[in-house]
This record gives sequence, structure tokens and C-alpha cells, in this order.
Amino acid sequence: MSDFSVVDLICAKRDGQALGPDEITWFIDGYTNGRIPDEQASALLMAIYFQAMEPDELAVWTQAMIDSGERLDLSGLEHPTVDKHSTGGVGDKVSLVLAPLMAACGAAVPQLSGRGLGHSGGTLDKLEAIAGWRASLSNAEILSQLADVGAVICAAGAGLAPADRRIYALRDVTGTVPSIPLIASSIMSKKIAEGTSALVLDVKVGSGAFMKTHALARQLAEAMVTLGEAHGVRTAALLTGMDTVLGRTAGNALEVRESIETLAGGGPDDLVEVTLALAREMAELADLGADPADVLASGAAMDVWRAMIAAQGGDPDDDLPWASIVETVNAPADGVLGRLDALAVGIAAWRLGAGRARKEDPVSPTAGVVCRAVEGEPVRAGEPLLELHTDDESLLPGALAALEGGFTVVAEAGAPRPLILDRVTAGGRA
Ligand code: URA
Repeated sequence: MSDFSVVDLICAKRDGQALGPDEITWFIDGYTNGRIPDEQASALLMAIYFQAMEPDELAVWTQAMIDSGERLDLSGLEHPTVDKHSTGGVGDKVSLVLAPLMAACGAAVPQLSGRGLGHSGGTLDKLEAIAGWRASLSNAEILSQLADVGAVICAAGAGLAPADRRIYALRDVTGTVPSIPLIASSIMSKKIAEGTSALVLDVKVGSGAFMKTHALARQLAEAMVTLGEAHGVRTAALLTGMDTVLGRTAGNALEVRESIETLAGGGPDDLVEVTLALAREMAELADLGADPADVLASGAAMDVWRAMIAAQGGDPDDDLPWASIVETVNAPADGVLGRLDALAVGIAAWRLGAGRARKEDPVSPTAGVVCRAVEGEPVRAGEPLLELHTDDESLLPGALAALEGGFTVVAEAGAPRPLILDRVTAGGRA
């Protein structure tokens, strides 16, 4: 491989020039394998943060991240593979319902997931609230569960896109996470390496999301759809609202319970709406004939859920744990809940112990927030609006502080906010 000067690459990107394919490949390999030091990689990431990347550069950057590790081969599976990825939000438990639902629709769903960081929860943390459930599977176990059960949600192994692991850790401590090309390459390198044939992206927009505006979310969605299609993965994206909590709970065991209610045919309307909208996109990309709403109503998704949890060491009949302390926040006046801010609730749940500040921190299975009212519902002065669940009383003041100014009680309900905001598909596909 040719040798370049990292300083030349940093200066070129700093001055707004595109990097060449060989330079990018050399940089990703050099950083992943420890030949390029953190300080130079940090400077390049900051230059990318300010100058972004051309589509061709982003394609090569993502390819180099994929090539840094192994690629799962799912081509031997009998069923079409389709996965979903969310950019993360508060109360976003969609994957727990969607993975078994799509398997019940006839797909194989390889959902290799991450853990939560900051105020947005992680799918693996939620499932680990189920006693005995195991997130780490070998590649052979992933393949056999996909063949037998049809869905697997597990940790992405160390061999998949190791460049992303190193670069993400550096971005986390250098203020370079919120960059569209860096987010797009990070997410898509892992999803392409995972080997799925089709992918639906749930790009969250709003106060509780990475992307605070529709325009930025759309740019991210377009970049990811383009990358997926260029690598032969049929890819589509929905932009969905994340200004308020999805469903009525934020927190690990609390969200698993709400997901089980949804699989049983109940659950909150907004969670069902987002799940079914994503499910229809997945069914279309994977050419499945089934109607996800009918399949959810039939109970078949619940059967897959039970098999999926049991296959990874959990007992689907076990009681989920409850927190020992529940504090309520009461409505200050009679009226209607006007606004319930996703970020405020997400930070409160995080401070109660549901999320982590650093990758190595433990999370509490029981901590979180239950919304006794959601936007547009009537409330009465002195009656509970929110429940704060924790096992550590000292965490309550921080959570209560996060909720200050996080909700309004108004005289009349406003128009409900739309949940499905936009759709991005590859050029030429409807
Ligand atoms: N999730 C990822 O996997 N990578 C990012 O850069 C942001 C969110």
C-alpha cells in the first residue's frame, strides 16, 4: 500500500479538498491498525466535520470501513434478509416488536445492534432486562437462530467494521459525532458488513433525536440510502418524529413490557403506527406478500418473540423486574398536556440509571420514566403526569431537574403532531 503523509491529508481536507481513494484507504487501515496516532486522526475527523465529504469520497471511506473487518455471509438462508436501523430516540422500542414481526411475515431479520449512549436507549440494554438473555452470539449461533427462529437481535461482534469501533470512540471524545458523512459511514459500514440484503432506516427528527431538523435528517437519510444501494443492499428510509416520547415508557424493563403488550395486540397507538409503517417498507423491499398489520393481529409475531428470547437464554414467561422507588411528577393545573419534550424525558430516564454516560458504565434494568399522560390527553391538577422509577433515591433530584420546563399544561389540545414525516428511496424506486 502506498505511503502518504497524514499532515498532507489533514491540510487538504481542512482546505476543502476531496481526499483520493488511496489516501482514504491508507488512512482507515493505518488508524485501525494503530499506525496513525489519535491526535492526527482527531484533526482529520474535525476537518471532515467542517468540510464534509463528496459522495465519491464517502463511498470509498465507507468501503474502507467495511473492509477493515469481516462480512457475514447470509446467502445460505432460505428466507430473504431484511433489517431496520434507527438513528435513536427516547422510548424507541420499535426493534423489539419489528424484528419478530418481520420474521413472522416470512423474512430472516439479522438485527446486530448497539448499546445506548447518553439520553437515547439501546436495544441490547433493553433486552438485557430479561434475566438470562444473552447479547453476545457467535456467527454460527446467529446463522442457526436466523434459520430456526427467523430473527436475532444481538451485539455486533468485534470482527464487524472494527474501524468504526475505533473511529466512533475517538469521535465521542473529540466533538465530531454529529457529522452527516461520519454518521452515515458509521451506521452503513456495520449494516453492510452484517450481510443483510435489504434495510429500512428510521431516521428520527426532533428534540430527542440526533438530527434536530427535517432538512438535516433528510440529508442523512439520502446519504445512507445512496451508500446502501451502491453496496447492493436495497435501502429505504422513513423520517419519523422524535419531539416527544414514543409510547409511554423510557427505560429498559419498562420498554420491554410495553413491547410485549404491543406484540399481544395492544400497546400505544404511536408505537404501533411507526412499527407498521417501517414493517410495510421492509415487506416491500424484501418482496414479502404478508400484510404486517394482519400478522401482528394474528399473534404470530408474539410466537417468534418467545422463541427469539428463549433461543438467547431468556425465559419469556419470567416476570420483568420493577424499581423499588417510584416518585411522581403531578400536573400543576387542570387542562391538556400540551407538550412533553422527548429530550427532557430521555435525560430524566438516563439520570435515573437507565442509560450510560460512558461505554463501560452499567445500566439499571428497572430505572426509567412512565408517562401517565401523553401529548393531547386531559390532565387534572395534582394527579400524576409522570412516574420516575429508580432503585437509587439520590438520583431523583437530577431527574426532576431535567424535567423542569419539559412539559406544558394548556387549556385546549393542539393538532396532533404527524409521526411519519417523509420517505427516502433510491432513485427510480417508488
Ligand atoms: N450510530 C452509529 O452507529 N454511529 C454514529 O455515528 C451515530 C449513531
